Amino acid sequence: MAAHPPIEAYDELDSTNAEARRRAEAGEVGPVWITAAVQTAGRGRRGRAWSTNRGNLAATLLTVTDRPAGEAAQLSFVAALAACDLADACLGAGAARLKWPNDVLVHGKKAVGILVESGARPDGRLWLAVGIGVNLAHAPQDVERPATAFAEHMAGQPPEPRAALEVLAHAFERWRTTWSTHGFAAVAAGWSERATGIGQRCEARLPNRTLSGVAEGLDPDGALRLRLDDGAVERITAGDVFFGGA
Ligand code: BTN
Repeated sequence: MAAHPPIEAYDELDSTNAEARRRAEAGEVGPVWITAAVQTAGRGRRGRAWSTNRGNLAATLLTVTDRPAGEAAQLSFVAALAACDLADACLGAGAARLKWPNDVLVHGKKAVGILVESGARPDGRLWLAVGIGVNLAHAPQDVERPATAFAEHMAGQPPEPRAALEVLAHAFERWRTTWSTHGFAAVAAGWSERATGIGQRCEARLPNRTLSGVAEGLDPDGALRLRLDDGAVERITAGDVFFGGA
């Protein structure tokens, strides 16, 4: 099994991504996984909050890269595939599907969220904080779209967060190696096999506008190809997509 970076565990943090950012800005390069049993100010994409109570997993990989920002962002697909592997290990193969760009849905509801943050280092490289939140034991109620937790789909108890992080960190290492050895095309192929919504109509809520059309698949860099009703194709690089109300 591929070795993974060390894990540093806290009982409570404001946010594992915030801790990774503090460390990166102080010059730490990692790689290190930072996890907390409770997050008091967990954050999600597009400025949303992400609550983490005891029993759920909140973890962030702090690392640095020589790659340009656009390529480095592909690590969010690596993270999504690793989280999908964790879901498969707990719930059985095929229970989880991926929704662009990096949500993991279990039986159609969100069970995992991923937030990648980055910044420039004085040496010109980028630091990356790859934050992954997994609803193992409970799902938040106060969210825009229905969420679920692994526990709702298991006969027994869900895994302890630390045990789940071991599985996740190993899976992350496997997909990261696929990315560095075979390139993003191999990651995109893995992602597409597990994707939901490709070929279906969707609404893409972008930072400054909303578009609707048919999601055709990934472009070679990870952008979503959206076929608009007038036949034109838009490349979606940031935002949220919603398929049939989910
Ligand atoms: C989303 O909005 O879907 C992304 C949620 C990301 C949550 C994780 S939990 C671990 C890490 N720390 C944070 O504050 N956020 C990420």
